[in-house]
Amino acid sequence: MTAPKPGSPATTAARRDILITSALPYANGPIHIGHLVEYIQTDIWARFQKLRGHNCCYVCADDAHGTPIMLKARAEGITPEALIARVAEEHKADFADFRVGFDNYHSTHSDENRYCATLIYERNRDKGHVTARTIEQAYDPVEQMFLPDRFIKGECPKCGAPDQYGDNCEVCGASYSPAELKNPRSVVSGAVPEQRESEHLFFRLADFEPMLRDWTRGGGLQEQVANKLDEWFDAGLKEWDISRDAPYFGFEIPDHPGKFFYVWLDAPIGYMASFKHLCESERGRAAGLDFDAFWGKDSAAELYHFIGKDIIYFHALFWPAMLYGADFRTPTAIFAHGFLTVDGQKMSKSRGTFIKARTYLDHLNPEYLRYYFAAKLGPSVDDIDLSLDDFQARVNADLVGKVVNIASRTAGFVTKRFDGRLASSLPEPGLFEEFTAGGQAIADAYERREYSRAVREIMALADRANQYIDEQAPWVVAKQEGQEERLQGICTQGLNLFRLLIGWLKPILPGTAEAAEQFLKIPSLTWADLSAPLLGHEIAKFKPLMTRVEPQQVQAMLEASKEDLMAPTSAQQSGQGGSEQPAGGAGHLARDPIAGTIDFDTFAKVDLRIARIAKAARVEGADKLLQLTLDLGGETRNVFAGISKAYDPADLEGRLTVMVANLAPRKMRFGVSEGMVLAAGPGGKDLFILSPDTGAEPGMKVK
Ligand code: MSP
Ligand code: ZN
Repeated sequence: MTAPKPGSPATTAARRDILITSALPYANGPIHIGHLVEYIQTDIWARFQKLRGHNCCYVCADDAHGTPIMLKARAEGITPEALIARVAEEHKADFADFRVGFDNYHSTHSDENRYCATLIYERNRDKGHVTARTIEQAYDPVEQMFLPDRFIKGECPKCGAPDQYGDNCEVCGASYSPAELKNPRSVVSGAVPEQRESEHLFFRLADFEPMLRDWTRGGGLQEQVANKLDEWFDAGLKEWDISRDAPYFGFEIPDHPGKFFYVWLDAPIGYMASFKHLCESERGRAAGLDFDAFWGKDSAAELYHFIGKDIIYFHALFWPAMLYGADFRTPTAIFAHGFLTVDGQKMSKSRGTFIKARTYLDHLNPEYLRYYFAAKLGPSVDDIDLSLDDFQARVNADLVGKVVNIASRTAGFVTKRFDGRLASSLPEPGLFEEFTAGGQAIADAYERREYSRAVREIMALADRANQYIDEQAPWVVAKQEGQEERLQGICTQGLNLFRLLIGWLKPILPGTAEAAEQFLKIPSLTWADLSAPLLGHEIAKFKPLMTRVEPQQVQAMLEASKEDLMAPTSAQQSGQGGSEQPAGGAGHLARDPIAGTIDFDTFAKVDLRIARIAKAARVEGADKLLQLTLDLGGETRNVFAGISKAYDPADLEGRLTVMVANLAPRKMRFGVSEGMVLAAGPGGKDLFILSPDTGAEPGMKVK
C-alpha cells in the first residue's frame, strides 16, 4: 500500500498510519502567540485525522541544545540541564492549556535522541557523506569559546550602523560575514574576537542533489517552497557544517572528542526520538506502535512536518538528505506556514503585541485564538495577521452569536417542557441530510489544510440552522396550546444541527466540543457519528458554552504584555532562535529586540548581591560621598556611594543593601570603588538603599 498524496480527498475507507510533527521550540524562552500559529495549525490537523479514525500520532519536543541555551543557563547561574527542565515544564503547561494534544512531548537532550543522532551520523559517515576540514572562525579569548555569528556585534561594513549582528545589518539590510564587521565585539564578554582555526565536520549535501531534486518534485512540497528549493539548487548545494567546538551544550561526537553535533543536526532527529520514546512507553506498546513501521526505508506510513517558513532549508534539504543517507524513509510532505503579525505589524514588545502564551491564557479563552487562527489559515506560506478588532468581532459573531446561540435558543424548552428528552424523529430529515452532505466538503478542506474554507462552510451552515429556528420561532410555538410535539420537534432539529456543527468544529474547538458533549450527554464524537441524528435521547441542562470576548480583556492582555517587558523570562527569544541558521533561509523574522533596550543576557550579567554594610564613613573633601565597606559573606569591597545627604553613617553600619558585585573597579579621586550600591528615589535626601534584614544573608544572589 502506498500512502495517499497529501491533499487527496479525505476518506475514511482505509485506516492510515500518520505521524505528524511541529517544529521543536527552543528551550530558552517562553511560547508566544507566533509559535501558536504552528502548534494550533498542526493540532487541528492531527485532531482531524484522529476524528476520522486514522492511526495518527502527533509528537514534538523541546529543542534543548546550542550556544544560546548554554549561555542563558550560565547567565542564570544554573546548569543547562536545570534550565531546559524548567522551560520544558513551562512549555508543556502552555501547550496543555491551549489544548495542543501531543501524543508525546520529549526533549532533544534525551537518550533516544543521542542514540538516533549517533546512528544517523555514523551511517552517513560510513558512506562517505561526512568530511573534515579546518576553518577559521571568530573566537572569544576571554570566554575561550568560538562565537556563532549572532554573538558578534559591531558596525555594519556597508552603512556604518553601530551595534549590528555578525551576519546582517538591521538598518540597511546588508548581509556579510562577521570578519567584515568594523570594531567587532563578542556579545558574551565584550572582548575583541580573534580568528582561530579549528577542524570541523561537514555533511556533503551535494551528494544528495539527485535524490533531493526527485523528492522536491514528488508532490510533498507547497509550490512556493518548491520554487525556493529550485533557487537553492541553482545556487549550488553547499557542504553543511555539523560540528561545534567545546564548550557547547549538545551531544559529543563519538569519534571526535571535544566536538559536538551542531544543534540543527540533532534537532529534527528529535522528531524520531520523541516517536521512539512514545513507542517504548506503556501507551505506545499497548497501541502496538512500531518504530520501524513508521521510519523504516519502506514504510507505508505517512510522515508530515509542520514548520515555519524560516526553517525550510533545514527541513527540505538537510533533513531528507540525512534520512536518506542513513537508510531511513523521507518525509511524505512538509507543510510550511507564514509568520504572525498583530494588527498588520511584527509582534512588538513596546506595543504589547509580543504576547506570551501564558499572558494570553491569563486573560482570554484559548478556544478563541484557536478559532481565529483557523479562520485565517490556509495551506500557503503567507503570513497571517491577528487583527485584534477583527478577532473580537469574529469570535463574538461566529462562535457566540451563531453556533452557541443555536443551543441556547432551543435547549431550555427541552429541559423545561420535555424532561430533557429529544423527540424520537426529526421534523425535517431533509434539512439534516443537507447538512451531513456538507460534511464531505468540510472534511476535504481540513485534509488540504484549508481551514479558513472549512470554517466558512461550517458558518454558512450555522447561518442556515439559525434561519431554521427564526422561521420556526419555537418561542412562539411554546405559547400555543396543543403544539407540544411540534415544539419538541423544532428543538430536536435545532439541537441536531448544533451537534453536527460542533462535531465539525471539534478539531478547532476541542474544549467547547467537550462541554457540548457533556451537555448532550454523548460519548466523545467522531466524524462517523455525524451521519445519524441523536433522537429519543436525554440531554443535560444547558449552560452557556462560551462567553463573549470583552474589549477590556484584550486591553488588559496588551497591558500585561508591556509589563512582561520587565520580567526576565520575556526577553529571551529575540534573535536567538534563528541565531545559527545559514544565510539564504526564507525568513526575515519578527524576533528582533527593540531599540534602546538590553536583552536579557545582558541584564542577567549584572551580578546583584546582598551585602552587609560593615563600615560607613564620610569622605573628606567630598560632600556627597560615603565610603562603605561591604561584606559579601567572606569577601569585602570598598565602595564609594553618593548617599551622604540621605544617611548618617552610623545608621548604616550593620544593615543590608543590594550591590552590583561584578562592576569593573573604578579609580576615583579618593580611592578605588569596587562595585555599586543600588538606590531608589529622586536623590538628595530622598534616597533609599537598605534591604530588609529578614531572610537575607550577605553574599546571596538577588533574584
Ligand atoms: N528550534 C527550532 C526548530 C527546530 S525543528 C527540528 C526553532 N524553534 S523556534 O522556537 O524558534 O520556533 C519554533 C516554530 O515556531 C518554528 O517553526 C517557527 O517558524 C515558528 N514560529 C516562531 N515564531 C513565529 C511567528 N512569529 N509566527 C509564526 N510562526 C513562528 O525554530
Ligand atoms: Zn548597514
